[in-house]
Amino acid sequence: MNQPTLLFVEELARKAGQILHDNYEKELDIKFKGEIDLVTHVDHESERFLIHEINQHFSGHKFLAEESGESGGESDHLWMIDPLDGTVNFAHGVPFFCVSVAYAYKGEVKLGVVYDPMRNEMFSAERGLGSKLNQKPLKVKETELLKQSLLVTGFPYDAWTTKTNNFDNYEHFGKLSQGVRRLGSAALDLCYIAAGRLDGYWELAVKTWDVAAGGLIAEEAGARVTNVKGNPNYCDLPVSIIAANPRLHQQILEGINRGK
Ligand code: IPD
Ligand code: CA
Ligand code: CA
Repeated sequence: MNQPTLLFVEELARKAGQILHDNYEKELDIKFKGEIDLVTHVDHESERFLIHEINQHFSGHKFLAEESGESGGESDHLWMIDPLDGTVNFAHGVPFFCVSVAYAYKGEVKLGVVYDPMRNEMFSAERGLGSKLNQKPLKVKETELLKQSLLVTGFPYDAWTTKTNNFDNYEHFGKLSQGVRRLGSAALDLCYIAAGRLDGYWELAVKTWDVAAGGLIAEEAGARVTNVKGNPNYCDLPVSIIAANPRLHQQILEGINRGK
């Protein structure tokens, strides 16, 4: 087979998720990529597994994966992989993390799968065919006003030093909504928007592998997903994200760009 099926990607993510589950609360080999940006041996193990399996079935495909970067040479087929999204939670024993795998063909994400192994929740989407949680269709909430909404955001690993640390937006939206959560997994944040558990999500600086799969899952559940400038090509660099139903999306977009 030349192109993967959604089922293939789901099974792959389930197996990688099992690696995370098996290692949860076990002794970890931790290294630091930055002051507070850590990586465990489990991130690497999950990524090695995913890339190896994909290569077995689809030789010549290209990869963009968090721990190994770009590999695989020129191809119209691109896999975007976050082998463990929520690694700080994982390293501290907080059970909120996932595996995120997206498949794109000729520059368009076609399949997205995000698997939460602690809850056995498989979020998935195929472009044009909707998104699902454990095979049940997903739909975003219709919340119209910020004051009715529960939001979620995240902060970059260089938040101690960068001006775009998002702290001002956290305060801004905290005073306009029912709360702004910081759950620690961008991919699951997007899936929670898709599932109608949360109303809106934004983050100023993320990576393609954080949002490629979850972005499609949110879009296919009816969310508008753009970068913080309102551009729908949210996987283009520099990557940032807003996801919510269209009405709420507009209010978050305006809020982030206030005074600009
Ligand atoms: C991080 C998480 C976090 C988000 C950061 C990401 P990682 O990914 O998704 O929620 O706020 O921007 O880098 O390091 O756990 O894979
Ligand atoms: Ca990530
Ligand atoms: Ca990661």
